[in-house]
Amino acid sequence: MKGVVLAGGTGSRLFPLTKVTNKHLLPVGRYPMIYHPLMRLRRAGITQIAVVTSPEHMGDVVNLLGSGRDLGVDLTFRVQDEPGGIAQAMALCENFVGGDPVVVFLGDNVLEEDISRDVRAFEEQLSRGGSAARVLLKEVHDPERYGVPRIEGDRIAEVIEKPTNPPSNYSVTGIYMYDAAVFDVVRGLHPSRRGEYEVTDVTNWYASRDLLSFGVLEGWWGDAGTLEGWHEANTLAEHLAYDELESGA
Ligand code: DAU
Repeated sequence: MKGVVLAGGTGSRLFPLTKVTNKHLLPVGRYPMIYHPLMRLRRAGITQIAVVTSPEHMGDVVNLLGSGRDLGVDLTFRVQDEPGGIAQAMALCENFVGGDPVVVFLGDNVLEEDISRDVRAFEEQLSRGGSAARVLLKEVHDPERYGVPRIEGDRIAEVIEKPTNPPSNYSVTGIYMYDAAVFDVVRGLHPSRRGEYEVTDVTNWYASRDLLSFGVLEGWWGDAGTLEGWHEANTLAEHLAYDELESGA
């Protein structure tokens, strides 16, 4: 299993905090934001990880992370020339992923709990054969800010991106698990009305074929991509410490 952390985009919703730096380098709790997805992947046993970011900030991201050795991970870097959407950023990692299953983690997602149990559940789903994907949901009070699942019984019928009338109180968090077919799916996408290649379209490809499973996060979760979300994530992560990073301090 490989990991991909997406840290491109413009960070415009956090401007001017992001005028001279990348959103994912801003602090969340006691760490730079991007440490959180990297440590969650590492704890799930995923150490081969590609980080995608924009040309403007690649230097700073590499300065911070280096090879990944200090975080116990093995990093590869990919440049997304223009922010054409999450699915476009994913596509840049096809050779790196090389036919393995992949966990895609949005670089502004911060969460309390370990994702190992869901990664194992996804591996079991894969072992039953055929194509497969899994998303992690979180119950939220403001679903219209996110991708929202329409749940029918025990399955997700579809995901609707930032709906005016949300069909449930769940957000699809920025932690996605896909089999290697995902890159063929991305190749078949068309840009959305806002001109981006949408991860929600990728997930819906699997949902419409009944190939999508889901887990529900129990601990806190935050999307630090807006000023409100960033403040909230800082409060939630105030006491979050990764022992692996503290022992050498
Ligand atoms: O956080 C969960 C939400 O993330 C989901 O519920 C939504 O379905 C999903 O579309 C996404 O929504 P956001 O509005 O939060 O996406 P945003 O544009 O903020 O991008 C999320 C991360 O993806 C960001 O930290 C950087 C990365 N990204 C984004 C774009 C548009 C890239 O690496 N390249 C890009 O072109």
